[in-house]
Amino acid sequence: MQPLNILVLVGSPRNEESWTYKSIRILEEKMQAIQPVEFEYIFVQKLHLPFCDGCLKCVNVGESACPDYAKVGPIADKINKADGIILGSPVHTFNVTGLMKNFFEYFMYKRNRPTFFGKKAVVTSIASGGGHTVVMDFLEQTANAWGCDVVSRMGISSSQMLKESYLKRVDVVAEEVADTFVSEINEGKLGSPKFRHLINFRAMQNMAYRQKNSINHKFWEDRGWFDAEYYNKVPINIFARVMAGYIAGKMRKSTRKGNQNLFR
Ligand SMILES: Cc1cc2nc3c(=O)[nH]c(=O)nc-3n(C[C@H](O)[C@H](O)[C@H](O)COP(=O)(O)O)c2cc1C
Repeated sequence: MQPLNILVLVGSPRNEESWTYKSIRILEEKMQAIQPVEFEYIFVQKLHLPFCDGCLKCVNVGESACPDYAKVGPIADKINKADGIILGSPVHTFNVTGLMKNFFEYFMYKRNRPTFFGKKAVVTSIASGGGHTVVMDFLEQTANAWGCDVVSRMGISSSQMLKESYLKRVDVVAEEVADTFVSEINEGKLGSPKFRHLINFRAMQNMAYRQKNSINHKFWEDRGWFDAEYYNKVPINIFARVMAGYIAGKMRKSTRKGNQNLFR
């Protein structure tokens, strides 16, 4: 049996010393017990990416116009080739690490031109106290926006990791996550979008439509997405579909009239 190739992005600046890495190693062990796997760990800190300077060349000109494409491009290729990905970040100031956020900024173009459809993903987060949900929500949302299907999540308290009773519970959860991840990869079905994914699709559709003569517009047009309800032809809950269509109409109208909400 061919091993499953899993690509991991570790967003802790503590690299191999981090609980982020150590907890994903537990997941690796659990997956290995089910089916052969090959894990590749990318430590985001070791990419030595400068801060994204916000030039938006990736969005407007094309990803290869990014001044740091030599570092970012190969990671996109690796994600593309992997059977599944894991995004792991500790909680820093009740959010993802600056390191992970910066990396995601380099991948902004994937939100505009997603391609990782059918790629299964797991997100993990580590905190000494709290903030796991905020971080996992953001990691999940980001992977979804790139086209991935997030199939499971694992949030762990690092301050508990030396306690045997807690480790036993981590073991059980890691087994569950590993089981879901392996079976979802093997099944290889496209996930059905949730309501928020439909709304995100409609917002991106609206934006790409208005960017006439841009690389984004062409990308969407080539795929017939301007006339679509979602990126792929997957079953969509009828109620969610109708609601998303209605909201998309309102979004378009308010954008056209300059009536978009101000935020306070
Ligand atoms: C700058 C910084 C900010 C942090 N903010 C939080 C926080 O908001 N909530 C929390 O529970 N822990 C916080 N922590 C603790 C880390 O989440 C904790 O040490 C975690 O184990 C780090 O993960 P790692 O071992 O994978 O690097 C913070 C740590 C650092 C260095």
